[in-house]
This record gives sequence, structure tokens and C-alpha cells, in this order.
Amino acid sequence: MYLLKVGSVFLLLLAIKHSLGSPTFSIDYKTDCFRKDGEVFRYISGSIHYSRIPRVYWKDRLLKMYMAGLNAIQTYIPWNYHEESPGRYSFSGDRDLEHFLQLAKDIGLLVILRPGPYICAEWDMGGLPAWLLKKEDIILRSSDPDYIAAVDKWMGKLLPMMKPFLYQNGGPIITVQVENEYGSYFACDYNYLRHLSKQFRSHLGDDVVLFTTDGAAVGYLKCGSLQGLYATVDFGAGGNVTAAFDAQRQAEPHGPLVNSEFYTGWLDHWGSHHSVVPTALVAKSLNEILAMGANVNLYMFIGGTNFGYWNGANSPYGPQPTSYDYDAPLTEAGDLTEKYFAIRDVIKFYRKIPDGPIPPTTPKYAYGTVVLKKLQTVSDALENLSFSGPVTSMYPQTFIELNQAFGFVLYRTALPFDCSKPTPLSSPLNGVHDRAYVSVDGVAVGILERNKVLTINVTGKAGSQLDILVENMGRINYGKYINDFKGLVSNMTLGTDTLCGWTMYSLSIDEAISEGLLSETTPTQEPQQEPQPAALSLPTFYQGSFIIPDGIPDLPQDTYIKLPEWRKGQVWINSINVGRYWPSRGPQVTLFVPANILSTAAPNNVTVLELEEAPCSSGSCSVEFISAPVLNATVQFDHKQYRRLFNKEDLL
Ligand SMILES: *[C@@H]1O[C@H](CO)[C@@H](O)[C@H](O)[C@H]1NC(C)=O
Ligand SMILES: *[C@@H]1O[C@H](CO)[C@@H](O)[C@H](O)[C@H]1NC(C)=O
Ligand SMILES: *[C@@H]1O[C@H](CO)[C@@H](O)[C@H](O)[C@H]1NC(C)=O
Ligand SMILES: *[C@@H]1O[C@H](CO)[C@@H](O)[C@H](O)[C@H]1NC(C)=O
Ligand SMILES: *[C@@H]1O[C@H](CO)[C@@H](O)[C@H](O)[C@H]1NC(C)=O
Ligand SMILES: *[C@@H]1O[C@H](CO)[C@@H](O)[C@H](O)[C@H]1NC(C)=O
Repeated sequence: MYLLKVGSVFLLLLAIKHSLGSPTFSIDYKTDCFRKDGEVFRYISGSIHYSRIPRVYWKDRLLKMYMAGLNAIQTYIPWNYHEESPGRYSFSGDRDLEHFLQLAKDIGLLVILRPGPYICAEWDMGGLPAWLLKKEDIILRSSDPDYIAAVDKWMGKLLPMMKPFLYQNGGPIITVQVENEYGSYFACDYNYLRHLSKQFRSHLGDDVVLFTTDGAAVGYLKCGSLQGLYATVDFGAGGNVTAAFDAQRQAEPHGPLVNSEFYTGWLDHWGSHHSVVPTALVAKSLNEILAMGANVNLYMFIGGTNFGYWNGANSPYGPQPTSYDYDAPLTEAGDLTEKYFAIRDVIKFYRKIPDGPIPPTTPKYAYGTVVLKKLQTVSDALENLSFSGPVTSMYPQTFIELNQAFGFVLYRTALPFDCSKPTPLSSPLNGVHDRAYVSVDGVAVGILERNKVLTINVTGKAGSQLDILVENMGRINYGKYINDFKGLVSNMTLGTDTLCGWTMYSLSIDEAISEGLLSETTPTQEPQQEPQPAALSLPTFYQGSFIIPDGIPDLPQDTYIKLPEWRKGQVWINSINVGRYWPSRGPQVTLFVPANILSTAAPNNVTVLELEEAPCSSGSCSVEFISAPVLNATVQFDHKQYRRLFNKEDLL
């Protein structure tokens, strides 16, 4: 009344705002829960990584998550995605994190933010930029001053950007994770965690809830938790939920129960079976978690795609494929699955599900067969692929010494003596990181592979040109060996001699493709026919195009590219690097091609770099665009494969 008498609408609004109070989000240690604006609050969240989904699809995926009954999402921020070289930040297009957060807010989803700096995530080097390795003996994820200096600079850029998005400031972010599963890392450096904790506080303020996440066992929580950071756990379906939360209770006797990563599926590796976690198991464990009143984040709710070169690897070296489908409730392409509806049915017991239609699965289109023609080999195109020109040195240099993070480097030297008999070319210290395509005088002679093939035989005359094209297949993202240097990281030997006198070409293949610098082979450039080992060719580019048909509504639509009988390589569609293919090893056979990179206005260009042998000599130099993915065709199964299954296995 008094306010109305004064007649000031402004004061009235102020009064209303004050009576509602400003937004708050906090931990209640008395009643073991979160409180949002003073009210008891429990989140049911799902993981979505914006870096694995084209921007145009963010809204569709978030809406589907909202319609499943989630009230929050969780996302990682990959540092190396936003700062590919020191001080050069990228936050636009598919990297527009602020837009992503705003969309979540507009849809009605809260956000659990995981800014790292280390994120694991089956992402190259766990999100750490490869340029940190410029200091060769850097101890990542520790108080190493060079590491800390880089982290502080990055956080000084990132966290002030995030501050307006905090719940207290009217945004969607309710909690912020510090580091990631730090208790699983050997360093156990509390000063590092303390430093991060201070950094986060100084940028974000005292009100924000900061937390840590570790495997659900006392051993992991020991080095992973720190006073002032709320300790949460992660564990998968099928285990003993009570026992898992007991581990959290050892670190946090009071406060909300939180499973920060409840695994809906699992990751894949090249050469392993496709991971599948049964829907019934996921539904049962989710129900148990929710029945205990616990907070949960479903990891992943949608996995998405490791486009380009972004996949990580586990140790002993086992790289992950392009697809990060994860057997999640929404597929790599955002399709609704049986698991989606089962999870939604469980959530219904605990929360009102929003009314209204669920956005449908986006239609897929089979554009059919596209014939490719052969372009140049990598060595033919060298002058157009090597933007920075060759570097010479006595002994081989690594990718980072050559200022290259991803892709391929060509190492060239000459045979120092006649090898008339087969002579072993070897990497005695297992220093081919990660796979090398070897040729002598323009003839492919073999493949070296980290941990698997350390020696091949070569023949040739003294002075013959030895080319070793080395592929970086993704940096280790978990454990002790994340300082994963690429290229030839130790000396090569021929017989008993150490090879020296190298010329190295950093290859800017992505740039060369987008600038249209590749041309067709001229017959004179073909090497003379010499006997070659079982169907192996020089690494070679192929290209073709297809037109999207007229008169069919709603094209372009998403599709999947399949490369029948192609062996291993990389694919670009309209110069967008859609990822690696390796159907000869599996389990992934098709690559997701989102509609947004296709065009109806011009022919769509398909460029393939085949590293081993294209099926063209046998006539079918073609690829296919089909309407359904194949992610589970394991051709070669490696039983000793890498297991980062601590939390799932421990509890199964
Ligand atoms: C689960 O763990 C709890 C606590 O450790 C234990 O009391 C219970 O017997 C376990 N349940 C099963 C089915 O093993
Ligand atoms: C290389 O050739 C030698 C002699 O022919 C043979 O004994 C050896 O097994 C070969 N090594 C490889 C790796 O092929
Ligand atoms: C290669 O061998 C030389 C001579 O033994 C040595 O000085 C150099 O450090 C080695 N380089 C690498 C990368 O191992
Ligand atoms: C490099 O690209 C230019 C422009 O397309 C072309 O004229 C030239 O022949 C290319 N060089 C090689 C070695 O392919
Ligand atoms: C495909 O390449 C041709 C020839 O370079 C170009 O004209 C066309 O625009 C490209 N298509 C797309 C969709 O970029
Ligand atoms: C692969 O997945 C498809 C579709 O889910 C299924 O029909 C097929 O049986 C699976 N194949 C293998 C080898 O598991």
C-alpha cells in the first residue's frame, strides 16, 4: 500500500523481487539434501557434450532430455576444444558454450558444469591441450608451475564467462565440478586441488556449490576429495547401490547422495566388441537410486560423435572410435530408443513428466552409392599439404616439436645402405605413435603399429627414399600416461643402425581439402609396378560427389556413410572432417553424417584418405550413404583390451 502511494513502479518491482529473494542453491547438511531457493531439491540429470553434437541439433537433444523428465543436464568443457593454441580462444559456432547454456535455461533445464581443467571424457588427452607437452617433462594435473600457469590463464578466461550463468546470478548452473576423478590419478597432489578450489572460488564467488566426482570406493575418494568441495561418486548399473553410496558417506557423512555418472552404456575401442548395457539393468538401478532419494546424472544421456580427430584412447594404447554412441538412451544421432522410454517410465514414479509431444527421431536418408575417383597420393600432394614446409633434423621430432597437434606427419629419410635381403626396420622403444604407413621409393611396404607391430622388413638400395607417414590416432585420456607424445617419439633403426637425417612434413590436410588443393593423379606419377605385400598401397586421396534429389520434401536429412571394403582412413564431407573409419577392425562400420553439413544448392563432395588399400582395383571404388548405423561389427577382437572399468566392474 505504501509503495502504491509512493507511486513508483520501480520500487514495487524491487519489493517483489526482494520478497521472493534472490535465487539460491545450497547443500543442506542437516536434512541431507540440496536446497533450491530454500526448498528441498533433487536433480535427475543427463550428460550431453555440446562438443560432440552439431550446434543446430542442441535444441532438439535438450528438448528430448527435458521431455524424458530430467530437470538438469551435465556437460564437460573440453579446454583443448576452446584453446587449440595458447591464447587463441574459440567460442563460436559449434563451440558457442554460452549459447548452449542459454538454450538449456530457455528449455527449463538446470546445468551441472564440469569445466575440468582435466575432463577424461574419452576426449583427446582428457581435454588438456596438447601444447602443454611443449614442456616435455610437465607433470599434468599437479602443482607443476608451468601447468598451473596455463590452467590459471584458461580459468581466468573461462570462469568469468560462466559467472553470469550461475543460478545465483539468474542462470541455469547449480553446481560446478572441480577436476575429474582426481582420486584415480597417481599424483595425489592436494596442493593442486586446493589451488583449483581457490581459483574457482575467486572467479565464481563463495555461494556456488563446488564438488568432486570419484569412483565409488574409499580408495578413489582418498586423493579425489578435499575439504570445501562436496564429494560425489560415480557408478554404473547392476551393482550394489547401497554399498556405492556408503563409499560417498565415508567422505561426506552428511549432505545429499549424488551419483555424478550413472552409466547408461559404455565406451568402445577399435578392435573390441561394441559395448551394450541392457535397458532392464539400467532401469532397475536407476529406480534403486531414486528410491533412496539420491541425486543422479545419467552418463551419457546422449553420447554423440567424436568428429575430426577428437577421440581419446585408453592405456595400454587403445583408441576409441569416432562414434560416441555409448548405447545411451538417445543414440549418437539423437534417436529415441527403448532405453529412453524405460528411463522416462522410471522417472515418472518420482517426478511429474512434462506434458506435450516428445520431438520425434529425425528422419535419415539413404543417398545411395557414390563413385569416387583416385586423386593424388599423400607424397604426390606433399607441396600442397605441407603448409609450413619441411623441417630437417638428425633424429626424428615429435608432433609437438613440429607444432602440430592432430592428424598426420610424413617422416622421410634415405636408406643408409643396400638392403638387398629383407632387413628389419624397427622402433625398438615402441615409439611409433600411433600407426605408420611405410614406403620405399614410392612402394608401400608395410604398417607399424604402437604396441602391436614394432618391426617390418624392407628391401632397397642405399639412398632409396624411405617415407613413414605417422598417424596420431588420439591421445590417452585416462590414467598415468596422458603425456602422450605423437609421431616418431623415439629413434628408428634399420638393421643395427639408428636412422638419421630426417626431413619432416607437418601436414595440413584439413586446410588443403577445404582450399581444394588436391588434384587427380597423372599417370606418369604412378610408381612402376613392383611386387607389393598383400594388397597395400600408398596413402591416397579419393573424391566424389553426389546431388541431393529434387522433389523429396525435407531434404537434406541425416545419413550414415559406409565404406565397404575400404580399410582405414579419414573422411571429409564438404570439407568437414567427419572422422575415422576402420571397418577392417570394427566395431564401428558407418560414420554419422549430420544433415547440416549437406547442401541442396551444390554437389556434395566426399573426400577420403585411404591409408592402406582402397577397393578400387577390384572395380568398386565407391562409398554408400545408408539410413541406419552399424556400430557393432567387430572384425578383429583383442581380448587383452584396455579396461577402464573400475567403477562398473567393481560393482558388478
Ligand atoms: C549391498 O551392500 C550393503 C552395504 O554394504 C549390504 O548390507 C548388502 O547386503 C548388499 N546387498 C547385496 C544384495 O549384496
Ligand atoms: C624378416 O626377414 C627375416 C629373414 O627373411 C625373417 O626371418 C623375419 O621373420 C622377418 N621379419 C618380419 C618381421 O617379417
Ligand atoms: C636418438 O639417438 C640419438 C643417438 O643415440 C640420441 O642422442 C637421441 O636422443 C635419440 N633420440 C630419440 C628421440 O630417442
Ligand atoms: C598444388 O595446388 C595448385 C592449386 O590447385 C596446383 O596448381 C598444383 O598443381 C598443386 N601441386 C601439386 C604438387 O599437386
Ligand atoms: C563441391 O566442390 C565443388 C568443386 O570444387 C564446388 O563447386 C561445390 O561448391 C562443392 N560443394 C559444396 C557443398 O561445398
Ligand atoms: C548389431 O546391432 C543390430 C541392431 O541393434 C542387431 O540387430 C544385430 O544383431 C547386432 N549384431 C551383432 C553382431 O551384435
